[in-house]
Amino acid sequence: MNCKKSEFQLDPSVTYLNCAYMSPQLNRVEEAGIEGVRRKRNPINISGELFFSETEELRREYATLINARDPKRIVVIPSVSYGMANVARNLPLSKGENIMVVDEQFPSNIYPWRRLADENDADIITITPPETKKKRGKKWNEKILKSITPKTKMVAIGNIHWADGTLFNLKAIRERTRDVGAWLVIDGTQSVGALPFDVQEIEPDALVCAGYKWLMGPYSIGLAYYGPALDGGTPVEENWINRYESENFAGLVSYNDSYQPGALRYEVGEHSNFILVPMILTAVRQLNSWGIDNIQAYCRELISESVEKLLDAGYRIEDPDYRASHLFGVRLSEDHSMEAIKSALEKENIVVSFRGDSIRVSPNVYNTGDEIDILTEVLISQGRDLLNTPSQ
Ligand SMILES: Cc1ncc(COP(=O)(O)O)c(C=O)c1O
Repeated sequence: MNCKKSEFQLDPSVTYLNCAYMSPQLNRVEEAGIEGVRRKRNPINISGELFFSETEELRREYATLINARDPKRIVVIPSVSYGMANVARNLPLSKGENIMVVDEQFPSNIYPWRRLADENDADIITITPPETKKKRGKKWNEKILKSITPKTKMVAIGNIHWADGTLFNLKAIRERTRDVGAWLVIDGTQSVGALPFDVQEIEPDALVCAGYKWLMGPYSIGLAYYGPALDGGTPVEENWINRYESENFAGLVSYNDSYQPGALRYEVGEHSNFILVPMILTAVRQLNSWGIDNIQAYCRELISESVEKLLDAGYRIEDPDYRASHLFGVRLSEDHSMEAIKSALEKENIVVSFRGDSIRVSPNVYNTGDEIDILTEVLISQGRDLLNTPSQ
């Protein structure tokens, strides 16, 4: 795969390595959005069929991306918190049982469980990373597996950690959760779209994703997959379009107590958003045509030399088996100063994120080898500068 920078409108004076914050906008996604805005100039452009047809297409396209067999298990959501609220509404949880999460997880995958645990006198078990500089990812994964017990009713986790890219072994976690009868709920926001995910292989009970990062969609629209464990459950809201035969606008007040098939009961009201749906549909189509394997391979190739150089310069980066290539943390050694590094990166117009003692670097297909080289050079020179500074 070659670099796709020409399909975006990034500022050439800025090195943008922060897709984990928000992806830049593909030109064709922007065009789809503008077209969407124009549609409402004249409402006859918005047929009754359009309330359903584009979302259906989006389900099919996303089902291809995550290898889900049944597109009707996929629904449009406005945010991860909404997707998780549907899970919270339906997870059976009793006194003394627990929900397992990992340390410093994104809040949308924490707050719903805190409320649920509180209401049911249940516990949240937080698995912290081991205090080790070597094999941190491997040991963290082992700790997670060991902590899942028959009292665990759900593991809610990302495919990777959002702050430093630590990879969680979802296959092993799925096996263990299945052994004890616990749900596996995944926040795919920082992985799906750049790291292959296979629903048929992992069989999650829910996979919830915001759309504006690795899926390259606009803000305020995401996608959730719900597995058979949620079949027949209760959604967080009751909207007309999720009811059986809602396609028949003339019959809407012949109220219907049953829902559309699959997981469609969980879809957000007004899911047929005539601006955001064509935008994210265009984005997901583009990702499928590039191929997620190819995107991850592109990022791997982009960073591999740089990772070696940074390790030689004393930075710490997770072992390749336990981290992704599209999002990874660069931890500083005692010799480095975060403040100095921040200002050096800022001076060179390099955009990354900072999380605790680590720099979060998140490249994508619009980044070039030269951009990674600039980042590497700035980081290495920081170490050098410090070593050359006489101690006082
Ligand atoms: C891992 C993860 N999940 C979810 C979100 C966004 O959550 P929400 O859609 O509820 O705002 C983010 C945003 O940074 C994230 O990094």
